[in-house]
Amino acid sequence: MRLADFEMYRELLHRHTGVDLTPDKSSLLDARLTPIAKKWGYPTFESMTIALRGVPENALIIDVVEAMMMNETMFFRDARPFEDLKNTIIPYLAKERAKYKSLRFWSAGCSTGEEPYSIAMAVKECGTPLKNWDIDIIGTDISHSVLSKAREGHYSQFDVQRGLPSPMLIKYFHQADGGGWQLDPSIMNMVDFLHSNLLDPVRDLGPFDVIFCRNVLCAMDDAAQTRILDNLARTLEPDGFLILGDEETLPTSCVSLRPLPDLPGFYGPADGTHRMDRLEKLKKTSGT
Ligand SMILES: C[S@@+](CC[C@H](N)C(=O)[O-])C[C@H]1O[C@@H](n2cnc3c(N)ncnc32)[C@H](O)[C@@H]1O
Repeated sequence: MRLADFEMYRELLHRHTGVDLTPDKSSLLDARLTPIAKKWGYPTFESMTIALRGVPENALIIDVVEAMMMNETMFFRDARPFEDLKNTIIPYLAKERAKYKSLRFWSAGCSTGEEPYSIAMAVKECGTPLKNWDIDIIGTDISHSVLSKAREGHYSQFDVQRGLPSPMLIKYFHQADGGGWQLDPSIMNMVDFLHSNLLDPVRDLGPFDVIFCRNVLCAMDDAAQTRILDNLARTLEPDGFLILGDEETLPTSCVSLRPLPDLPGFYGPADGTHRMDRLEKLKKTSGT
């Protein structure tokens, strides 16, 4: 791909999603965009590039942007955040929200659903403390194609082999007739999937007790990260928890959030009201 063309695609992706591609992705773009050119009836990849420089149809832009996204994910990715959720965060929230018996979770940038379904399984595994509670889990993504896959709840052998503990596979999946594994409706019904761009202000979604926004910001520059983090901070309860990916942290330009002491990867509103003494106690009793 010519450098000028790469820059055009890079700018398009950045403008729509905040994701900033590095030049080493040039051949990957070639491979991913050639089938889109074919789908849209462009004789060559270059003719699609020319069309995109003009006034392209919105549906073409959506297809091109989706083809350039990185959607890598897996069940219980990195394990530790889900352990902390089960052993520290949920016990804390079970006490703090006991009066309302309601908890709301958001998987922001949920890809094909493994993350919000892992949250649902972790909640289910908590058992009695959350019995008869109202549990709301929302998964959102900018890509329509990953959301359709997420809504199907059907995963390949490869998908379930990565990260999903065998007891969870046996308990919450069954082998599908045509191959692969189908997630149980008791978990699927706990999650709602919605299309949303994290760069846009969040309307009618919050507030949330826990937001997972993992492995989404790492591909973005500081300005896009800050814009998204400010949007997330506005939807977080004053003592709610934001969980970022293992390789991610707050950019210095983000002042709406702060790291929570002794909970690596967990953040709260800058002016938050967490009862850290209670969190500390729970961490000690849960042995984490
Ligand atoms: C690498 S995946 C991470 C999935 C999951 N959170 C995890 O950690 O396994 C990043 C996801 O973020 C989505 N994404 C990227 N930019 C976005 C934006 N501006 N708005 C909403 N979703 C976005 C992508 O479509 C992709 O599915």
